[in-house]
Amino acid sequence: MMLSCLSHVLLLLTFASITVPVSAVTTVQVKFNQAADLPCERKCSREAKWTLFSNRDDAVAQCNQTSCWSLKEGFKMSHDQYLEGNLTLTITAADYSKRNTYTCECDGTDINDLCLSIETMTSSIQINPGEDLQLDLHVSERVEVIYKGGDSADPHGEQICTVDRSSLNCTAEYTPTTSLNDTVLTLRGVNSTDRGNYTVRDTENNVDLHTYTVLVRGTYSVF
Ligand SMILES: *[C@@H]1O[C@H](CO)[C@@H](O)[C@H](O)[C@H]1NC(C)=O
Ligand SMILES: *[C@@H]1O[C@H](CO)[C@@H](O)[C@H](O)[C@H]1NC(C)=O
Ligand SMILES: *[C@@H]1O[C@H](CO)[C@@H](O)[C@H](O)[C@H]1NC(C)=O
Ligand SMILES: *[C@@H]1O[C@H](CO)[C@@H](O)[C@H](O)[C@H]1NC(C)=O
Ligand SMILES: *[C@@H]1O[C@H](CO)[C@@H](O)[C@H](O)[C@H]1NC(C)=O
Ligand SMILES: *[C@@H]1O[C@H](CO)[C@@H](O)[C@H](O)[C@H]1NC(C)=O
Repeated sequence: MMLSCLSHVLLLLTFASITVPVSAVTTVQVKFNQAADLPCERKCSREAKWTLFSNRDDAVAQCNQTSCWSLKEGFKMSHDQYLEGNLTLTITAADYSKRNTYTCECDGTDINDLCLSIETMTSSIQINPGEDLQLDLHVSERVEVIYKGGDSADPHGEQICTVDRSSLNCTAEYTPTTSLNDTVLTLRGVNSTDRGNYTVRDTENNVDLHTYTVLVRGTYSVF
């Protein structure tokens, strides 16, 4: 199970007594595919490691006096830094599978928890009438696509499709022209009525992953 920054906070709330103020877990937010450093400071005499908060047996990187090593690809700790008391975990490229809460541990003691999140991406797409519109959903589990038309007064927009474990479910209007290949959603033969914003929302973690602003060429004039 993946825990987003928000659901992690809710989890703490449910564990905490109502009279105790809950401090939210610190979030490190980066752009998609950028490197992220999760800081942690402590001088360890034996070993240091980073694990998943949700599964403390699941370590991603580890150090001892001799060396540091990765247990999962894309995570690293520096041995030179470890010797200085700097246990920073470096995530070489923040993709959606790395969104999680991580725990820093030194000689068997928990030091801190940090949550990695990825900023909502925005893109602008210009397309000719009749062309196919391709939207990368980035994940294939529990996402929805919300469409908000250019002239729409509805502030929430309309859910046009959902995807769960690679299975696509669209409204009757969109079903005939929509398909999914891996994480890419294709809307075939768009026309002027399809302009507007398409928001890809992760419904498991309640975060927007990407907003596409779609303009259909030649359908309106500024003059
Ligand atoms: C550090 O871990 C490595 C690999 O598990 C091991 O070979 C080495 O002896 C350990 N060093 C110390 C000082 O425990
Ligand atoms: C801690 O180590 C990371 C790299 O592992 C480095 O980027 C960062 O500057 C170091 N922090 C300090 C305070 O030295
Ligand atoms: C579409 O998104 C853009 C940028 O995120 C925003 O400025 C614009 O107001 C949105 N349009 C609609 C119709 O929601
Ligand atoms: C598809 O979505 C509709 C409306 O949200 C829902 O009623 C229906 O059960 C879904 N079908 C599948 C196969 O998930
Ligand atoms: C799905 O996408 C892959 C990679 O972009 C492509 O090679 C493949 O032909 C596509 N499949 C279909 C059915 O369009
Ligand atoms: C655009 O497509 C919609 C539905 O697919 C259709 O009802 C409408 O007539 C089309 N508009 C134009 C200008 O082609």
